[in-house]
Amino acid sequence: MSDKKKVLVLTGGGDCPGLNAVIRGIYKAIKYDGNYELWGSIEAFNGVLSEPMDIVKLDDDLTRGIHVKGGTIIKTTNRGNPFDYPVQSEDGTWTTINRSDELVEKIKSLGFEAVINIGGDGSQKISQHLFEKGVPMIGVPKTIDNDLSATDVTFGFSTAVQIATNLFDKLVTTAESHRRVMIMEVMGRDAGWIALHTAIAGGAEICLIPEIPFNLDQILKSIEKRYVTGKGFVNIVIAEGAKEAEGEVVGSKSIDAGDAHVKLGGVGNYLRARIEERQNFAQVRTTILGHVQRGGTPIAFDRILATSMGVKAFDMVKEKQFGKMVAYKNHRLETVTLKEATNTYNVISLDHYLVETARKMGVSFGN
Ligand code: F6P
Repeated sequence: MSDKKKVLVLTGGGDCPGLNAVIRGIYKAIKYDGNYELWGSIEAFNGVLSEPMDIVKLDDDLTRGIHVKGGTIIKTTNRGNPFDYPVQSEDGTWTTINRSDELVEKIKSLGFEAVINIGGDGSQKISQHLFEKGVPMIGVPKTIDNDLSATDVTFGFSTAVQIATNLFDKLVTTAESHRRVMIMEVMGRDAGWIALHTAIAGGAEICLIPEIPFNLDQILKSIEKRYVTGKGFVNIVIAEGAKEAEGEVVGSKSIDAGDAHVKLGGVGNYLRARIEERQNFAQVRTTILGHVQRGGTPIAFDRILATSMGVKAFDMVKEKQFGKMVAYKNHRLETVTLKEATNTYNVISLDHYLVETARKMGVSFGN
């Protein structure tokens, strides 16, 4: 029997480049300290809740070199909310039940001193509720959308922007050859950070984001101007959560029990159809990037941010800073309460300097 104190780590919600770098950061900091051991719950809290339990003691072999690897070695899920846990009835239908008391009991009986939850807004709300039930929770923020308000930036975001920009560059050359309108749809449910950054980095003519509902007449005007002035091609980047003024977001309700999310995706095709029905001088094509934005190896910035957040999370374990989340603010790592961290989204304000930059670069927001 080991006399070391035990810490549990899990990853929840959509994956994101940098998750493994956080896990390795925590593991190495723990090893350096010498008094703790790190366990991983497989597939968010499902590992603790499942029978038999699926938790694993992390060691050198499991964590070696994983900072360069995308995804998460301990798996993740959108359907692991212990307060709204999906169960299948005998007739095959799904419902959800509250398994939080059972989870709290199990965590206590396993003797964990702290639980580090690496996840986005939904996961940190779960962390807060578990903290209120007495679980020593610590949060590490994660999302490629960069929509968490308590931290200036989340790891994974810069990698997603780099991937989107590389692919946008490829669409520009083919748009130019064919004199086409190319629409590239990127992720961003509530916030258009990936779209805005890609538009500036890639030199888009039009950038459509959830924060600024678009007007088709304005978009058509911008396209026509490009064709009349002889440029004759247009590159548009659109966030999946963008919508037409007085319109609806394009997506469908999730069919997975326990997953509250509307599945977004398709607004790029919607826009293509709308542009096609209103003009006949430009051919339009849409590319939906989807999950390629979340896959693969994190860029150096995200590896560094993720690693340092892992190290900070373990400092917080030792300092018993429970009910709090790591945050990156003004180039420093700080802590914020989980409550504060999940209060509001980090959406783009219209006076943000990047909106101003884009406008002065001639980018239209379609409004
Ligand atoms: O929250 C991050 C995100 O990338 C969103 O932009 C997107 O809508 C969502 O995940 C899709 O996640 P999944 O396909 O895993 O449900």
